[in-house]
Amino acid sequence: MKQRLVDEINKQITYEFYSAFLYLSMASYCAENDLPGFENWFKVQKDEEEFHATRFLTYLHDRNQHAVITGFENPPTEFTSLLDALEKSIEHEKFVTGRINYLMDIAYEEKDYSAVDFLNWFVKEQTEEENSFNIQRGQVKLVGDNGPGLFQLDREAATRVFTPPVIP
Ligand SMILES: [Fe+2]
Repeated sequence: MKQRLVDEINKQITYEFYSAFLYLSMASYCAENDLPGFENWFKVQKDEEEFHATRFLTYLHDRNQHAVITGFENPPTEFTSLLDALEKSIEHEKFVTGRINYLMDIAYEEKDYSAVDFLNWFVKEQTEEENSFNIQRGQVKLVGDNGPGLFQLDREAATRVFTPPVIP
Protein backbone atom coordinates (compact mmCIF):
# COMPACT_ATOMS: atom_id res chain seq x y z
CA MET A 1 0.00 0.00 0.00
CA LYS A 2 1.19 3.53 -0.71
CA GLN A 3 2.40 5.25 2.45
CA ARG A 4 0.35 8.35 1.65
CA LEU A 5 -2.89 6.34 1.87
CA VAL A 6 -1.76 4.50 5.02
CA ASP A 7 -0.99 7.86 6.69
CA GLU A 8 -4.39 9.29 5.79
CA ILE A 9 -6.21 6.15 7.01
CA ASN A 10 -4.29 6.43 10.27
CA LYS A 11 -5.49 10.04 10.54
CA GLN A 12 -9.01 8.81 9.87
CA ILE A 13 -8.83 6.39 12.82
CA THR A 14 -8.12 9.44 14.99
CA TYR A 15 -11.02 11.42 13.47
CA GLU A 16 -13.42 8.53 14.07
CA PHE A 17 -12.38 8.27 17.71
CA TYR A 18 -12.70 12.06 17.99
CA SER A 19 -16.25 11.68 16.59
CA ALA A 20 -17.00 9.09 19.29
CA PHE A 21 -15.87 11.51 22.02
CA LEU A 22 -17.74 14.42 20.44
CA TYR A 23 -20.99 12.43 20.56
CA LEU A 24 -20.24 11.20 24.08
CA SER A 25 -19.87 14.85 25.10
CA MET A 26 -23.28 15.57 23.54
CA ALA A 27 -24.77 12.53 25.31
CA SER A 28 -23.44 13.97 28.54
CA TYR A 29 -25.06 17.35 27.81
CA CYS A 30 -28.39 15.54 27.23
CA ALA A 31 -28.04 13.55 30.46
CA GLU A 32 -27.51 16.79 32.39
CA ASN A 33 -30.47 18.49 30.69
CA ASP A 34 -33.28 16.01 31.28
CA LEU A 35 -33.08 14.37 27.86
CA PRO A 36 -32.30 10.70 28.66
CA GLY A 37 -33.64 9.57 25.28
CA PHE A 38 -31.18 11.76 23.38
CA GLU A 39 -28.45 10.75 25.83
CA ASN A 40 -29.09 7.20 24.57
CA TRP A 41 -29.29 8.38 20.95
CA PHE A 42 -25.86 10.05 21.09
CA LYS A 43 -24.35 7.09 22.94
CA VAL A 44 -25.49 4.82 20.11
CA GLN A 45 -23.84 7.28 17.71
CA LYS A 46 -20.66 7.02 19.78
CA ASP A 47 -20.81 3.21 19.39
CA GLU A 48 -21.13 3.65 15.62
CA GLU A 49 -18.06 5.90 15.53
CA GLU A 50 -16.01 3.37 17.49
CA PHE A 51 -17.13 0.76 14.99
CA HIS A 52 -15.92 3.02 12.14
CA ALA A 53 -12.55 3.59 13.83
CA THR A 54 -12.10 -0.14 14.36
CA ARG A 55 -12.99 -0.91 10.74
CA PHE A 56 -10.21 1.41 9.53
CA LEU A 57 -7.79 -0.12 12.03
CA THR A 58 -8.65 -3.68 11.00
CA TYR A 59 -8.35 -2.75 7.33
CA LEU A 60 -4.75 -1.56 7.80
CA HIS A 61 -3.94 -4.86 9.51
CA ASP A 62 -5.71 -6.82 6.75
CA ARG A 63 -3.35 -5.07 4.33
CA ASN A 64 -0.34 -5.83 6.52
CA GLN A 65 0.25 -2.16 7.38
CA HIS A 66 1.29 -0.43 10.59
CA ALA A 67 -1.55 1.31 12.46
CA VAL A 68 -0.69 4.36 14.54
CA ILE A 69 -2.96 5.14 17.47
CA THR A 70 -2.75 8.75 18.62
CA GLY A 71 -4.62 11.16 20.86
CA PHE A 72 -6.77 13.99 19.56
CA GLU A 73 -8.12 17.41 20.43
CA ASN A 74 -10.66 17.88 23.19
CA PRO A 75 -14.21 17.90 21.85
CA PRO A 76 -16.47 20.84 22.78
CA THR A 77 -17.96 20.41 26.26
CA GLU A 78 -20.58 23.17 26.27
CA PHE A 79 -23.75 23.28 24.18
CA THR A 80 -26.48 25.89 24.34
CA SER A 81 -29.29 23.47 23.40
CA LEU A 82 -30.06 20.10 21.85
CA LEU A 83 -30.49 21.93 18.54
CA ASP A 84 -27.02 23.46 18.94
CA ALA A 85 -25.55 19.95 19.49
CA LEU A 86 -27.33 18.66 16.39
CA GLU A 87 -26.15 21.63 14.29
CA LYS A 88 -22.56 20.97 15.42
CA SER A 89 -23.02 17.26 14.64
CA ILE A 90 -24.11 18.03 11.08
CA GLU A 91 -21.12 20.33 10.53
CA HIS A 92 -18.86 17.56 11.83
CA GLU A 93 -20.44 14.87 9.66
CA LYS A 94 -19.97 17.10 6.59
CA PHE A 95 -16.30 17.34 7.50
CA VAL A 96 -16.08 13.54 7.84
CA THR A 97 -17.79 13.08 4.46
CA GLY A 98 -15.12 15.38 2.99
CA ARG A 99 -12.44 13.20 4.60
CA ILE A 100 -13.91 9.99 3.15
CA ASN A 101 -14.08 11.61 -0.29
CA TYR A 102 -10.45 12.69 0.09
CA LEU A 103 -9.41 9.12 1.01
CA MET A 104 -11.31 7.88 -2.04
CA ASP A 105 -9.52 10.44 -4.26
CA ILE A 106 -6.15 9.11 -3.04
CA ALA A 107 -7.22 5.47 -3.48
CA TYR A 108 -8.13 6.18 -7.12
CA GLU A 109 -4.97 8.21 -7.73
CA GLU A 110 -2.86 5.34 -6.40
CA LYS A 111 -4.96 2.76 -8.32
CA ASP A 112 -5.57 0.96 -5.01
CA TYR A 113 -8.83 -0.77 -5.93
CA SER A 114 -8.97 -2.76 -2.71
CA ALA A 115 -9.07 0.55 -0.83
CA VAL A 116 -11.70 1.90 -3.25
CA ASP A 117 -13.84 -1.17 -2.54
CA PHE A 118 -13.33 -0.77 1.24
CA LEU A 119 -14.09 2.97 1.18
CA ASN A 120 -17.30 2.50 -0.80
CA TRP A 121 -18.99 1.28 2.39
CA PHE A 122 -18.03 4.55 4.11
CA VAL A 123 -19.36 6.62 1.20
CA LYS A 124 -22.79 5.02 1.71
CA GLU A 125 -22.47 5.24 5.48
CA GLN A 126 -21.83 9.00 5.36
CA THR A 127 -25.01 9.52 3.31
CA GLU A 128 -26.91 7.67 6.04
CA GLU A 129 -25.17 9.55 8.85
CA GLU A 130 -25.88 12.99 7.40
CA ASN A 131 -29.49 12.00 6.72
CA SER A 132 -29.96 10.62 10.22
CA PHE A 133 -28.69 13.86 11.84
CA ASN A 134 -30.72 16.00 9.42
CA ILE A 135 -33.90 14.15 10.42
CA GLN A 136 -33.20 14.70 14.13
CA ARG A 137 -32.40 18.37 13.59
CA GLY A 138 -35.57 18.86 11.51
CA GLN A 139 -37.77 17.30 14.18
CA VAL A 140 -36.17 19.19 17.04
CA LYS A 141 -36.60 22.42 15.05
CA LEU A 142 -40.21 21.53 14.41
CA VAL A 143 -41.11 21.15 18.09
CA GLY A 144 -39.02 24.19 19.08
CA ASP A 145 -39.89 25.26 22.64
CA ASN A 146 -42.86 22.91 22.86
CA GLY A 147 -42.18 20.86 26.02
CA PRO A 148 -44.59 17.97 25.35
CA GLY A 149 -43.27 17.74 21.76
CA LEU A 150 -39.68 17.52 22.91
CA PHE A 151 -40.68 15.00 25.59
CA GLN A 152 -42.21 12.81 22.88
CA LEU A 153 -39.12 13.11 20.63
CA ASP A 154 -36.92 12.21 23.57
CA ARG A 155 -38.97 9.05 24.18
CA GLU A 156 -38.48 8.06 20.54
CA ALA A 157 -34.74 8.75 20.76
CA ALA A 158 -34.64 6.35 23.72
CA THR A 159 -35.51 3.44 21.43
CA ARG A 160 -32.41 3.73 19.22
CA VAL A 161 -30.11 0.70 19.56
CA PHE A 162 -26.66 0.00 18.18
CA THR A 163 -26.62 -2.94 15.81
CA PRO A 164 -23.20 -3.67 14.31
CA PRO A 165 -23.70 -3.39 10.53
CA VAL A 166 -23.42 -6.58 8.52
CA ILE A 167 -20.56 -6.03 6.09
CA PRO A 168 -21.22 -7.71 2.72
FE1 LIG B 1 -17.82 7.92 11.48
